[in-house]
Amino acid sequence: MVEKLEIVVAADLDNGIGKDNALPWRIPGDMKFFQSLTSATTGGGKNAIIVGRKTWESIPEKRRPLKDRLNVILTKNAAITAPEGVLVCNSLEKALKALQGIAHERCFIIGGAQIYKEALQHPLLTTIHLTRIMQEFDCDAHFPPIDDRFALQAVSDTMKENDIEYRFQRYEKKSAL
Ligand SMILES: NC(=O)c1ccc[n+]([C@@H]2O[C@H](COP(=O)([O-])OP(=O)(O)OC[C@H]3O[C@@H](n4cnc5c(N)ncnc54)[C@H](OP(=O)(O)O)[C@@H]3O)[C@@H](O)[C@H]2O)c1
Repeated sequence: MVEKLEIVVAADLDNGIGKDNALPWRIPGDMKFFQSLTSATTGGGKNAIIVGRKTWESIPEKRRPLKDRLNVILTKNAAITAPEGVLVCNSLEKALKALQGIAHERCFIIGGAQIYKEALQHPLLTTIHLTRIMQEFDCDAHFPPIDDRFALQAVSDTMKENDIEYRFQRYEKKSAL
C-alpha cells in the first residue's frame, strides 16, 4: 500500500529542470544520489518510481527500466508498451491503486514537469528531495515553486562538479511533521 509519496527533482535557481526532453546539466554526483535514494530499502524489497512517459523516453534504452526498482510509467496513450515487469497506468490514482497490490517500500515521483505538478497537489505527498543547482540554465521544463505548505528540513554542504555548484535539500510537508 502507498502510504506516502516523495518527489525527487533537480532544479536550477529558476526552477528549470529540463530542455528538449533532457537534463540541461551533467552532474554525476546527483545521478549517484538519485540512484542511491530511490534504490535503498531497509527490508530487502524494492521501491517504486513513477515516471511520466516523456521522461521515460528520455532515459537511454539500455538504462531502463531503472534497475532494482518497480518502474511505473504514466501515459494516456493505450498503445505505449513497456518491458516486462514495468507497469503502465493512465492516471496517478490508477498507479497508486496498482501499487497497493504489489509489495514495495517507498514510492518516488521522478518527473517530469507534468507529473511533478500533479504530485505536488496530492494528499499523500510528504517529501521533496530537491537538488538545487546554483545557477540558471536554458530550460523549457520547470518545477513549480515550493509553497509554504513545505518546510526546509535539511541542506547539505555545497558541492561542485563540472564547474556547477549544487546542494541537496529536503522539504517536508508541515502537516506531516
Ligand atoms: N531535473 C530533473 O530532476 C528532472 C526529472 C525528470 C524529468 N526532467 C525533465 O522534465 C522534462 C519532461 O517533462 P514533461 O512535463 O515534458 O514530461 P513528463 O512529465 O515526463 O511526461 C508527460 C507525459 O506523461 C503522461 N502524463 C502526464 N500526466 C499524466 C496523468 N495524470 N496520467 C497519465 N499520464 C500522464 C502523458 O503521456 P502521453 O502523452 O503518452 O499520454 C504526458 O505527455 C524533460 O526535459 C526531462 O529531462 C527533469
